[in-house]
Amino acid sequence: MSEQPVRHLPLCSDAQLDGSRRGQILVLSRSAPEISVTIGWTAHDAMSTAEKSAQRLTFRPSFALSAGTWHVTETLPGRNRGMTDLMSDSDVLRQLLAVARYTANVESQRLKMDFARYWAEEMAKPRYADPKRLLRHGFKIYSQNDEDGIIQEIFRRIGAANRTFVEFGVQNGLECNTAKLLVEGWRGLWLEANSKCVEEIRGHFQPFLSCGALSVVETTVTAANIDRTIDQAGFAQGVDMLCIDIDNNDYWVWKAINSIRPRVVVIEYNSALRPPLSLVVPYNEDTNWSGGNYFGASLNALVSLGKEKGYRIVGCCFAGVNAFFVREDLCGDHFVEPATAEEHYEPGRYFTKFMSSGHSGRPGYYEPG
Ligand SMILES: C[S@@+](CC[C@H](N)C(=O)[O-])C[C@H]1O[C@@H](n2cnc3c(N)ncnc32)[C@H](O)[C@@H]1O
Repeated sequence: MSEQPVRHLPLCSDAQLDGSRRGQILVLSRSAPEISVTIGWTAHDAMSTAEKSAQRLTFRPSFALSAGTWHVTETLPGRNRGMTDLMSDSDVLRQLLAVARYTANVESQRLKMDFARYWAEEMAKPRYADPKRLLRHGFKIYSQNDEDGIIQEIFRRIGAANRTFVEFGVQNGLECNTAKLLVEGWRGLWLEANSKCVEEIRGHFQPFLSCGALSVVETTVTAANIDRTIDQAGFAQGVDMLCIDIDNNDYWVWKAINSIRPRVVVIEYNSALRPPLSLVVPYNEDTNWSGGNYFGASLNALVSLGKEKGYRIVGCCFAGVNAFFVREDLCGDHFVEPATAEEHYEPGRYFTKFMSSGHSGRPGYYEPG
């Protein structure tokens, strides 16, 4: 697009808002193919919510890009009609970009509100209202979905012995299942194959690394090396929670682990493979997840593996991503039975990412208060 002057979009002028009111531009709609953009105001400062809505309804100029020039195709009503000035295309684009960001943010808040309503409706249903079911306790601080709250509730019911974890497949650690525990004073080991992610962990988690609460090892976990890796990192004793999220060989790596017997195991399942399917991808160290729904293992396959290893399924997260297993000797009557995939399966609800945790998760070192 050229830098030639075009008509000024009368958007940021104080005069437009009585000289006392500043506002923010808001894209209300866009229509292809003529690239026309409808822009409105949302003002702040002195304006009440009601006034803001009124402004948005009132000031609704429409602009169209034609032959490199922005045209006002519908002028503002009342006194704002006909304001003109010069403005370059890049200024227009910069403003539109700011507007698009703002609009996206507003939309994202709206989705979070929709999700909160949906969540409350679901949790009121008899299935989820059962006090033994874990899902009502779900919440997100640093986990991908509601895992943080579910893990907290599991340990409230069964207790923790050493407050120690091992997690692999943590990316850069800002979103994982053990960052909350770390912040709360647990210690643990993270294994991650991606060197850039490990570098970021070393930056973000420096206080935890330097005080010895967190150990991080850059390694590609395999069924053959996992026991040795855990042992060499000094975590062969007293691990309370193991989390596995490596997108493909998760089942096979859990199967291979004999060095530790954690109280709780959190492992990703493939929710596309509903019970009673009992399927797992063949073990292959050279494949990476392609982004589709060919990966990992069905819940039923993991439940069978858990039984073999002395673990009982106690729930899945609401998003249908992670399954939670507790060591058989600790289960008592704390959890919903029967401990089957049919009972505990949750379908893929990946829109759970709209679950709000306030600001985005940013683990950091806290002192006791
Ligand atoms: C889906 S991401 C993990 C997401 C994260 N756990 C969360 O809750 O958002 C999978 C991570 O596993 C790592 N990974 C994949 N295969 C691995 C392996 N064999 N050993 C260690 N890390 C692996 C990837 O580099 C990636 O960071």
